[in-house]
Amino acid sequence: MTTRHGINWDKAQVLFAAERERFATRRPRSRALSQQAAEHLAFGVPLHWMNDWSTPFSLYVDWAKGARFRDVDGFDYTDFCLGDTGAMFGHAPEPVARALAEQGAKGFTAMLPSEDAVWVSRELARRFGLPFWQFAMSATDANRFVLRWARAATGRSKVLVFNGCYHGTVDDVFVDLVDGQPRQRDSLLGQVYDLTQHTRVVEFNDLAALEAALADGEVACVLAEPAMTNIGMVLPEPGYWEAAQAIIRRHGALLVIDETHTISTGPGGYTRAHGLAPDAFVLGKPVGGGVPCAVYGFSAELAERVQAAKRNAPPGHSGVGTTLTANLLAMAAMRATLAEVMSDAAYAHMFALAERLAAGLRAAITRHGVPWCVTQVGARTEFQFAAQAPRNGSEAERILDSALEQVIHLYLLNRGLLITPFHNMILVCPDTTAADVDRLLQAFDEVLTAII
Ligand SMILES: Cc1ncc(COP(=O)(O)O)c(C=O)c1O
Repeated sequence: MTTRHGINWDKAQVLFAAERERFATRRPRSRALSQQAAEHLAFGVPLHWMNDWSTPFSLYVDWAKGARFRDVDGFDYTDFCLGDTGAMFGHAPEPVARALAEQGAKGFTAMLPSEDAVWVSRELARRFGLPFWQFAMSATDANRFVLRWARAATGRSKVLVFNGCYHGTVDDVFVDLVDGQPRQRDSLLGQVYDLTQHTRVVEFNDLAALEAALADGEVACVLAEPAMTNIGMVLPEPGYWEAAQAIIRRHGALLVIDETHTISTGPGGYTRAHGLAPDAFVLGKPVGGGVPCAVYGFSAELAERVQAAKRNAPPGHSGVGTTLTANLLAMAAMRATLAEVMSDAAYAHMFALAERLAAGLRAAITRHGVPWCVTQVGARTEFQFAAQAPRNGSEAERILDSALEQVIHLYLLNRGLLITPFHNMILVCPDTTAADVDRLLQAFDEVLTAII
């Protein structure tokens, strides 16, 4: 018998084959659409990541609303993936759908602002505590633009990231620590520049390494999630951010906090909940209720410096912005989301369910005696294949097991429960119910029973 993370791998493989068969035989329409898609879609899907799910071919969606969606073969699902956070507040929230319909009758894009721009920037300042804001079409672009502003404002060329980070497809951050040395991520396609020239990388939760990497004063900014979420979750140790912020400040670097996933912590993100004081703040994905857009904010001091950098630059292309950035439709979606969807009440509901979920997962793990643990950042919960939660990216990477994840994910999917395809992240939204959580817990218990 082969064991793997405390489970019987032989049994797991047999189960996986049966689950693939079960999926395939019951979904003729998804299968037919996948076959047709292969004719004109490279990779057979509109985005090649869509092949990374556990299913033998793509699951095609008919509609998605709140915590639920239906596939084209008529199966209903409770969605705990929620578009990998894009739909963190539920699919097609009513206020956003209404705002889109109303704005849809009044124009989509003009490269000019509507009144919503004023309201949204005021609300962002109130909510997140940074006084000046700009927009982007995705969190990736927001991060890319903030790096550019940070370099322009400081006149420094280097950026620092944490090992195992993900901030979107921003080339600069695809540098890992391999045996303690920075190395460009092997998977990155078509990158011909040596990214290690201008990117430094250290382990999360290692203050001495951070201090050493900043000491020569060449780093423009540290770009970080306040808790890592993309290599499995890695939480900051008590006091980490307080000390890290002091070090960053002492060396004249800027702190950019990317809250695209950690907005699960609360209405003002991890930043507000834990009193962080970043120089710049990034939020994408759910800020428009799932409509493509992102925001980034500056402290008053940094806003002054970036505006000076622009003023002092020759006229011409700045390298920041895209034509559809801050379009009328996106601004209307953000206004509706911020005004009516990302509310204290929504978070209170999500926190209670996430607690129920985490407690239930822990109980099942204990009952089955597997060496796993559960990590939480507000409404975001994850089970991880180690008895102790990882302390940094290297530890988190060592415990990832995508083959085992796929067995569990497909078992759940075949029972109408969708969780995020990469690692084991589970989100609850304002429309998720206690009964939904209990169904997930029951299926989790069943799959463990089947593979131990
Ligand atoms: C922390 C973080 N920042 C940025 C991004 C990029 O978001 P997008 O793919 O919407 O550009 C992601 C995507 O997962 C993310 O997790």
